[in-house]
Amino acid sequence: MLPYEALEAEARARLPEAVFDYYAGGSGEESTLADNTAAWGRLRLRPRVLRDVSSVNTGTELLGARLASPVLVAPTAFHSLAHPEAERATARGTREAGSLLVLSSRASRRVEDVAAEAGPWWLQVYVFKDRGLTRALVRRAVAAGARALVLTGDTPVVGRKRRDRGDSALGLPEEDFLANLEGLTRRELAEQAPDVTFADIDWLRELSGLPVLVKGVLRADDARACLHHGAAGLIVSNHGGRQLDGAVATAEALPEVVEAVDGRVPVLVDGGVRTGRDVLRALALGARAVLLGRPVLWGLATGGAEGVRRVLDGLREDTARTLALAGVPDVSSVGADLVARTLWR
Ligand code: FNR
Repeated sequence: MLPYEALEAEARARLPEAVFDYYAGGSGEESTLADNTAAWGRLRLRPRVLRDVSSVNTGTELLGARLASPVLVAPTAFHSLAHPEAERATARGTREAGSLLVLSSRASRRVEDVAAEAGPWWLQVYVFKDRGLTRALVRRAVAAGARALVLTGDTPVVGRKRRDRGDSALGLPEEDFLANLEGLTRRELAEQAPDVTFADIDWLRELSGLPVLVKGVLRADDARACLHHGAAGLIVSNHGGRQLDGAVATAEALPEVVEAVDGRVPVLVDGGVRTGRDVLRALALGARAVLLGRPVLWGLATGGAEGVRRVLDGLREDTARTLALAGVPDVSSVGADLVARTLWR
């Protein structure tokens, strides 16, 4: 069994079935979920030979943050379902691994409490129907030291997940559901706004004074519109196959977005990244970094902060070995020549 599959199996054995299914599942027929991982696997690599790789450096820098590797933690909801220390453990494990946490708007612990344990972190933003809720959360995140905002653009409504058994099956306490929604007592009031647009990039930037990245971009025209509205970075994502099923795999969307952005801002990618080879493939297609969703949840479920650290350290080590095998001494030396063009153009 691959290390990822073994980790997932261990998490599955520990978690209530409904929680495992909530974390693991995708929307619709789960075709995008399956294709995310498969699409990375389809990309064939073109290793360089006879290069000195006696010292390989996975370190990188992203919007001013120094990172041990180009692997970040994607925003995922409700970590208290995986571990009693919830996002505080995730934050600690991420910091210890020298990585960066993107904290979900749907975190089950207060941003101030998570920030106290975190290294560099960004806040993922859902624009709620009541924009006042989003405004209050952004202000608290700024005060607590968030270094950027990540506006999720692919969730005007929530995708239907076939494994979903309804909120009550998860057993998530109301106070965890509403941990960062000040003054709310009813979850219906925390619905997302279906009328979120590119103008909300400007709104969030002016409100926070922070760089705003947009997550969920899969097309060149959308990438250009985000840049027009001052986006400081883009995350190519289909929400881990949880929003529009049938959406293109992120490995296939990435080259189009990279080309449209043309080096003006960093482009990141997530969805199905599981190995150092996947990290190399993403960098070769022009991503500056990748994010991990489910692997971090499995680390948290199986070992708390230590489990999160192990997942991130493990992928860093696998990335270092992969770079060496590909004849590449560091992250900035990865080029498009490392993947076989015929398969993605
Ligand atoms: C997510 N994702 C997500 N994205 C986001 O912007 N805000 C959120 O609150 C969540 N919540 C969430 C919960 C769960 C259980 C999952 C699995 C995913 C999407 C996430 O940020 C990321 O795009 C994907 O998880 C990446 O794919 P992998 O690594 O899980 O395959």
